[in-house]
Amino acid sequence: MTLATETLPHDAQGIARASTLLRGGNLVAFPTETVYGLGADAGNDRAVAAIFAAKGRPQFNPLIVHVTNADAARQLVEWSDTAAQLAAAFWPGALTLVLPLRAGHGLSPLVTAGLGTVGLRVPANDAAQAVLKAAGLPIAAPSANPSGRISPTTAQHVLAGLSGQIAAVLDGGVCPVGLESTIVGLDGETPTLLRAGGIPAEAIENALGTRLGQTATDKITAPGQMTSHYAPRARVRLNARVPHPGEVHLGFGTIPGDITLSATGDLTEAAANLFNCLHLLDAQECPIAVAPIPLTGLGAAINDRLRRAAAPR
Ligand code: TXA
Ligand code: MG
Repeated sequence: MTLATETLPHDAQGIARASTLLRGGNLVAFPTETVYGLGADAGNDRAVAAIFAAKGRPQFNPLIVHVTNADAARQLVEWSDTAAQLAAAFWPGALTLVLPLRAGHGLSPLVTAGLGTVGLRVPANDAAQAVLKAAGLPIAAPSANPSGRISPTTAQHVLAGLSGQIAAVLDGGVCPVGLESTIVGLDGETPTLLRAGGIPAEAIENALGTRLGQTATDKITAPGQMTSHYAPRARVRLNARVPHPGEVHLGFGTIPGDITLSATGDLTEAAANLFNCLHLLDAQECPIAVAPIPLTGLGAAINDRLRRAAAPR
């Protein structure tokens, strides 16, 4: 089925329309500070199933649920002191906490893929907060791209991938962080890093005063952990100081490239530009060479996304 996808402005009318559509069980993409999310009422089985259909996503991937604040989060999960500590330090913001579900949570089992836990996030951006408040519902939202493709950081990216498959996209401009949220599992004995993302692991470790555990690689708990996630159509080659003939070159710092993630070598700027640069270079339809990016701070998440983009598939 093809829908006439509406583009909604980030104003009172656009927010009201987005909320009406979400409450009616429709799919609405909206900006967050990380990437655009493909939102649906997290308590509505049919609406959540429609997310998987629109993205062409494997069913075993659970979805992140977005709420307006920590109080709303506490209605859904078994809260803990560690959760409170991390929520106080990083919410609203680019951190997702995986916590045990609470009885009577009301979420569709499709959201959690049948797990006893759920990933929760309080997004910081105005448009996301306005949509969540107006809808008055927990909103399930994976990144608003077809499964396995580059994540969207503009409304145009969303439309390029999902036009005709979703009811609407709320156009709130460019996502400032540009990388998905960092995911921390709080359902075991040790807080565990499940996905590197928009908040550096070091910052979380500083807030906790302990090291984060690392995930067992044989267990896919987060789809970002599937090797060929975030893939452009073109082949990608990493740590390339010089492009081979026929390659387009993505630069960083002193390596200028055809376009650059950050001419000054600023990792925050590079994260914000990453997916937009990959979308632009992918449109050239030739192989992509990427300059080396340091592994410190946000560089860990940038390199993680680039390794997945470069993985054989
Ligand atoms: O920044 C973001 O996190 C964006 C924006 C839209 O909020 N969302 C996003 O969602 O990246 P998605 O669905 O593409 O990635 C969600 C991640 C998945 O890797 C999923 O497996 C993990 O969250 N996740 C959700 N619930 C989980 C759970 N119960 N246990 C482990 N991982 C979980
Ligand atoms: Mg995604």
